[in-house]
Amino acid sequence: MTEPILEMRGISKRFGTTQALADVSLALYPGEIHALLGENGAGKSTLIKVMTGIHRPDQGEVWLNGRSITINNPLEAQRHGIAAIHQEPMIFPDLNVAENIFIGHGNRGSIVRWRQMYREAADILARLDVKLDVRSSARGLTLAAQQVVEIAKALSLDVRVLIMDEPTASLSAHEVDQLFKLAKTLKANGVSILFISHRMEEVFSIADRVTVLRDGRFVSTHPASEVTPESAIRDMVGRHMDDFFAKTDKEPGDLLLSVRGLSKDNVFHDINFDVRAGEVVGFAGLVGSRRTDVALALFGIETADAGSVTLNGQPVTIRTPQQAVKLGLAYVTEDRRQLGLTMPMSITTNITLPTLHQYANRFGLVQQRAERQTAETFQQRLSIRTPDVDRPAGTLSGGNQQKVVLSKWLNTQPRLLILDEPTRGIDVGAKAEVHQIIDELAQQGMGIIMISSDLPEVLAMSDRIVVMREGRQMATLNRSEATQERVMAAAMGQTK
Ligand SMILES: Nc1ncnc2c1ncn2[C@@H]1O[C@H](COP(=O)(O)OP(=O)(O)OP(=O)(O)O)[C@@H](O)[C@H]1O
Ligand SMILES: [Mg+2]
Repeated sequence: MTEPILEMRGISKRFGTTQALADVSLALYPGEIHALLGENGAGKSTLIKVMTGIHRPDQGEVWLNGRSITINNPLEAQRHGIAAIHQEPMIFPDLNVAENIFIGHGNRGSIVRWRQMYREAADILARLDVKLDVRSSARGLTLAAQQVVEIAKALSLDVRVLIMDEPTASLSAHEVDQLFKLAKTLKANGVSILFISHRMEEVFSIADRVTVLRDGRFVSTHPASEVTPESAIRDMVGRHMDDFFAKTDKEPGDLLLSVRGLSKDNVFHDINFDVRAGEVVGFAGLVGSRRTDVALALFGIETADAGSVTLNGQPVTIRTPQQAVKLGLAYVTEDRRQLGLTMPMSITTNITLPTLHQYANRFGLVQQRAERQTAETFQQRLSIRTPDVDRPAGTLSGGNQQKVVLSKWLNTQPRLLILDEPTRGIDVGAKAEVHQIIDELAQQGMGIIMISSDLPEVLAMSDRIVVMREGRQMATLNRSEATQERVMAAAMGQTK
């Protein structure tokens, strides 16, 4: 029997009245890929933050190579060979890509070996098959690109335990493949990998063992060969449930949005598509395919240089998000930290912020009870895990924060809703619920643009799929003709 490299023994951690972890144990062996599963708020990230010295446990011990150790901070964890890719990328916008990748290395020697740093950074990105200039500034990187930098940062270290907290949440199938190839190489070299994901198909394609947490407690550890997606979901939610949702077939209504020849220099070129009332138009593509830039241009955050946008038959030029909202658009951003949520404010305030005027009485005072009721309705519908909607949004787990962002924009009842990675980081149960809400909104006549890197999701939900690659529209596929293979081929640049 080999010994575990890293062992968590009886770990407990409490935040105020929330028992995030209660007596959790987990062993990681050399050369294994171990998946950690659980619903949003189950305690996965908290366990990882204990492993990497971000949190100190209230109880329990961490053992490394048969010795009990104390990890006081992430740098100490790194010295022990433990590195983590965190759920929310920690990127310094004032540094460039390469500097971000090597920032964790500390200052060994006074002269930074620039040329070597750039070469190594470019090398790691090439292994991930991602086109990202190592000298470009990190400011303004898309979330997917930030995640790639976060991954490269961990891969640049000499690790024995690599922890990945939803590393693939914003990545599309191709980058996920590359990442998994690298993970398998590390595994072959005896590295132990702990992997968190809400995408079941990924978990089962790569994991050797699977551990499930529920409500901060350990539920089970099994060899992956003995686990099915159904049994894993049952362990996670404590009952049987289906993780997919069937879209309603329906005749589309009037033309809502028409985009012709939309271009922005060096960003995207000649984009053409229509959205009718009641339609879901999916946007698929690899990391860096510029789907988000098109959405930002439609919503008035970026400006296009050429082309036309017609809304309800009227030509429009949208220059600000305020104007977009007035015209009946809403945009659920992919990056909840930059544009989506105000972390210190309450969950209720975050949800009702864009519609606050609706809660004011005739004296202009906000009726807190009505506001709270709205928040509680969404809390129940999307199972936002919190003891109280008055808590700051920043105290929620990643997936639960995403549910608040969604609630906020669903509550504005727009005519055209742009969703950018709507279910990123959301657990299987809540994901089916989000899909059902999207379907209901479409049935009520809302037009929906859905950017998603989750290919099964795009295929399941879209009436039509626009596939982009490096700022160009490679294909527009109808629901009946869209398959995983065709979307992938177009995204990779193979025009039939
Ligand atoms: N800094 C904090 N302050 C207060 N509560 C916290 C804090 N961090 C986590 N929690 C709470 O601890 C619980 C576990 O959160 P954690 O982030 O570990 O969940 P998770 O399993 O990673 O979920 P997700 O899949 O959504 O990322 C949640 O109820 C969360 O609200
Ligand atoms: Mg988490």
